Amino acid sequence: MVDDAGDDTGPDRAPDVDVVLLGATGFTGRLAAQRLAVLQQRALAGGDPFPVWAVAGRDRGRLEQLVASLPGGGPPPVVIGDVDVHDDASLGRLAARSRVLLNAVGPYTATAQAVVGACVAAGTHCADLSGELPLLRRVVGAFHDAARAAGCQVVQLAGWEALPPDVAGLHACRAAVGAGPGEWGPGAGAPVDRLDLSVRFHAVPRGVRSLADAVSAGTLASVVEVLTDPGAGVVGDPAALLPSDDAAGAAAVRRASPLRVRPHTAAGRLLGPVVPVAFLDPPVLHRTAALLAREAGEPHRPARVREGIDSGAVLRPRTLLVWPGQVLLAAAQRGVAALTRMPLGARSRLAAVVRRRLPAAGTGPSAAVLHGWRWEVAAQAVTADGRRGAASLRGTGHPGYTATAALLVALGLEMAERQRAAVVPGVVTPAVAFGPGVSRHLSTPELSLHLA
Ligand SMILES: NC(=O)c1ccc[n+]([C@@H]2O[C@H](COP(=O)([O-])OP(=O)(O)OC[C@H]3O[C@@H](n4cnc5c(N)ncnc54)[C@H](OP(=O)(O)O)[C@@H]3O)[C@@H](O)[C@H]2O)c1
Repeated sequence: MVDDAGDDTGPDRAPDVDVVLLGATGFTGRLAAQRLAVLQQRALAGGDPFPVWAVAGRDRGRLEQLVASLPGGGPPPVVIGDVDVHDDASLGRLAARSRVLLNAVGPYTATAQAVVGACVAAGTHCADLSGELPLLRRVVGAFHDAARAAGCQVVQLAGWEALPPDVAGLHACRAAVGAGPGEWGPGAGAPVDRLDLSVRFHAVPRGVRSLADAVSAGTLASVVEVLTDPGAGVVGDPAALLPSDDAAGAAAVRRASPLRVRPHTAAGRLLGPVVPVAFLDPPVLHRTAALLAREAGEPHRPARVREGIDSGAVLRPRTLLVWPGQVLLAAAQRGVAALTRMPLGARSRLAAVVRRRLPAAGTGPSAAVLHGWRWEVAAQAVTADGRRGAASLRGTGHPGYTATAALLVALGLEMAERQRAAVVPGVVTPAVAFGPGVSRHLSTPELSLHLA
């Protein structure tokens, strides 16, 4: 068990498992379980301790099958069955046993709030991969104050969207303002004016041909749920995740950093819209800055945030050929945002049609396309007085699944190690949950943070 110096062992908190993975039988959950098993094997082979971890879900038999399929080396994970996200009592018992609960049960729109509620009631840190903006907004509104009072962290969007840009962005800002070790960095006295992010794929496996090679059934189901969400109007708002009581800050973000989904150029390179969704990272980056400003008791002066997928040097003939495709991609994403503004009845009818055509739950990209990727999310920050800072998060594995599972696990292990008194509590972003230092869990062969 991770040494927690006793700060988690009061009469109200007696977790017996450091990291619990709920939804471990799903497509992404299985990858996260494999990642935990590999990291455990590696730690024990190197003579290092590894936290006690568990797989949880509604079907004990399938969980046991999963455990039997995992790489060996060290004690197997604890199996916690009979946990249904529609059963508050089972969730309450699970949250009470967990120091950190990682939730891979989707679609999140219908289920995530119950899990967050159980964790906040028990004072348990939790993280999930939800990227459905209306849901994220609701969780901020419903749970931020309660999580602060309970001293725990709730982290959403802890996968490839939006963890790498958030973490690289914070470190680029810290470097630009010359923050020392352990200092959060920018603030009203040392504002960052511009934050530019680019995503680069250095290697992509052959064989990514169809939608099924790119996204899982669970992700498709989540996208459909957004269509039927009455709060879907927040899609496209860069201030969607600002603290609920910060109307002035939200207006400032919309003014300083409007979310324009279109190809653009930066430093002589073509940056296309972030796929599959260009609407998620900017609200998260602005939330990070707003939360940290609030922690420091300073006003939040938003930076202009821009991001894109690097398609190469603008003047290369190959890059010129991809311009039209990037314009189409941007138009398609804006079309999806426009759909969220249609009347709810029409959206619901459309969702019902799409739902009937979804692939079976638990399925996703084939094993052949889960590996062979090398990607990098780079951030550059420029302060009001022209100082620059840069950082990047580099990784391997399919961004949406293999890498997402590794990112969720890295965050969970980091959260399990932190002293409760040392964290910024509340509904926080991945970067705030990782803290201002460089986490050793982001220093592995598969995932690594680089400070320029
Ligand atoms: N933001 C990102 O970067 C990112 C990336 C990947 C995935 N995701 C999201 O992650 C979620 C999972 O995706 P996936 O492809 O792994 O989905 P999936 O394969 O369909 O898995 C869903 C999991 O949820 C469990 N589950 C469903 N209903 C449950 C209930 N009532 N009680 C307890 N467990 C229940 C399933 O358990 P059973 O096995 O018992 O059915 C399964 O373990 C989706 O919402 C997806 O959008 C986000």
